[in-house]
Amino acid sequence: MKRLLSGLQPSGELTIGNYCGGIRQFLQYQKEYDSFLFVPDMHTITVPQANPELIRERIRRFANLYLACGLDPQNCTFYIQSEIPAVNQLTWILECHTYMGELSRMTQYKSKSEKQTNVGCGLFTYPVLMAADIILYDSNVVPVGIDQKQHVELARDIAVRMNNRYGDLFVVPEPIIAKVGAKIKDLQDPTKKMSKSNEDPMGTIFLLDSESDIKKKINRAVTDNDGYVAFDEEKKPGISNLITIYAALSGTPMQEAIDHFTGMTRYGDFKKEVLEVIYETLRPIQAEYQKLSQSDYVDTILDQGRDRANEIASKKYDLVRKAVGFGR
Ligand code: AMP
Ligand code: TRP
Repeated sequence: MKRLLSGLQPSGELTIGNYCGGIRQFLQYQKEYDSFLFVPDMHTITVPQANPELIRERIRRFANLYLACGLDPQNCTFYIQSEIPAVNQLTWILECHTYMGELSRMTQYKSKSEKQTNVGCGLFTYPVLMAADIILYDSNVVPVGIDQKQHVELARDIAVRMNNRYGDLFVVPEPIIAKVGAKIKDLQDPTKKMSKSNEDPMGTIFLLDSESDIKKKINRAVTDNDGYVAFDEEKKPGISNLITIYAALSGTPMQEAIDHFTGMTRYGDFKKEVLEVIYETLRPIQAEYQKLSQSDYVDTILDQGRDRANEIASKKYDLVRKAVGFGR
């Protein structure tokens, strides 16, 4: 069975955008592959973090939310990055085989380093840690957002380079980019993506938002003054976004959702239907989350995941260590 691996940084709270574009897709893959999902906590400190406790809380929240959304521990090895020592060990070796020029060309490094003074070295070598995450487990495919594609391509280059130098050590991974599907937009500014890090919380629906907050956000979602519902992403981005949310969450084919709403003249009624679908999606997830977060179930799963991941990772690291000539 081919192996699939992905990670999502706990750098904000999960949104319905993450759910539509990322989580749901992963849940589908988990049946078709030997899948690995991990929380890349070590990546979070590549930019300054004010509060270590907040990182720890988020790791737990992410893990519980993934389980609540339907991650199946039978089909998926679920673990926390920092609990796998071999990933650090391999990173060092890979860093010695990665060129400064390659890392300088990473667009995420360029844009993130511009926003900071005193840029840490970790932000620069971040893609090498990510390469280690991937090739340590002989991952065949890596589903990521488009912004991470360059990093997966670097992981490929590093794997090929290591194989050429030391013999066949690693599987060469391939990125999978989400099919053009639901791109959920910000409710206050429907020209930009709904994101877990937008400053204005009114634009974003989080998976753990209360029903009254969701209602407020949908009621205040930006529309237009045309007085009729129609799908036109350019001229009616607000309305079109709400139709997209409805279709994505209810599993209704896009055209069917468009036909269902087109011509409605009362935005209030339209929004009420969208709201219902959001409630129906989030209710079972939140109920499951509440149950999970009052138990230690997630620890059992993460312990199992850590053990399986460590077994594979430490064996692979041992091969690499020997190949480069370390030890006696
Ligand atoms: P991010 O939250 O930007 O780190 O994105 C994590 C993953 O969630 C991405 O790879 C996307 O697949 C998905 N995602 C995030 N935001 C959205 C959105 N607004 N619409 C659809 N998918 C999204
Ligand atoms: N860098 C990714 C992000 O910011 C998270 C990540 C770390 C990752 N290691 C990975 C994703 C390995 C896929 C594979 O979203």
